[in-house]
Amino acid sequence: MKCPGQENKRDLRLRRAIYFKHYDVLFVVSIWRSLKVNGIVNKAIVGLINEKYGKAVWSEILVKSSFPETTFSALKNYPDDITLSLASAASDYLGLSLAETLLDLGKYWVTQVAMERYSVMMKSGGASFSEFILNLPHFHSRVMLTFPDIVPPEFIVNQVSEKTFLLHYYSTRRGLVDFLEGIILGLGDLFQSEILIERKFEKSLGADHDVLLIKLMT
Ligand code: HEM
Repeated sequence: MKCPGQENKRDLRLRRAIYFKHYDVLFVVSIWRSLKVNGIVNKAIVGLINEKYGKAVWSEILVKSSFPETTFSALKNYPDDITLSLASAASDYLGLSLAETLLDLGKYWVTQVAMERYSVMMKSGGASFSEFILNLPHFHSRVMLTFPDIVPPEFIVNQVSEKTFLLHYYSTRRGLVDFLEGIILGLGDLFQSEILIERKFEKSLGADHDVLLIKLMT
């Protein structure tokens, strides 16, 4: 399936190649590394459940997910499937869909974790919702100064009108678009802006990548 951002993929590759100089090496590294995710994402799941539902609930979810460790470190990378297995054990236990849990996690991640622990990086993203979204393609490059070995998602943003944006989301992982949507809605909360998101193209439905139409209502 083609989408309007397809032609921009060359730009993205070019940007990647310029940034990393040896795109082929990056590509191989990203395939190898994509099996892992930095512990801060899993730490956020622990934080969200502990804060919203209490420690007892978290202990039960941990038993359900059959994951042997009880804590996660931002200095370590963990297999990707642990993140989804934790999120899916949490959804089962709480009677929510996986999409709802990932959406909650995205909001919690950006409004609590990122704002409390990485406020300088967050401030560098922009002074308004629109500015932040337009700067998104460069955001994780700054994050990589602190976490150099991550394989973050890549974004292309097309401004359709003053308050409408098309966000192209490229990830080496699957199933995290709800997490992204939660982050965008959380950014809306941070900037006290009402946001509407419409999915234009979905990787899970066969598209090359996910495309979200973001409308700034206020
Ligand atoms: C200070 C703020 C932020 C930090 C420190 C941060 C850091 C990270 C890290 C470490 C990962 C895991 C990547 C890996 O281990 O390979 C990640 C993943 C991700 N980040 Fe960020 N991030 C921040 C803000 C954002 C924002 C503002 C967005 C989007 C609006 C975003 C979207 C995502 C998504 C969707 C993933 C999931 C991984 C994937 O799609 O492949 N992040 N981020």
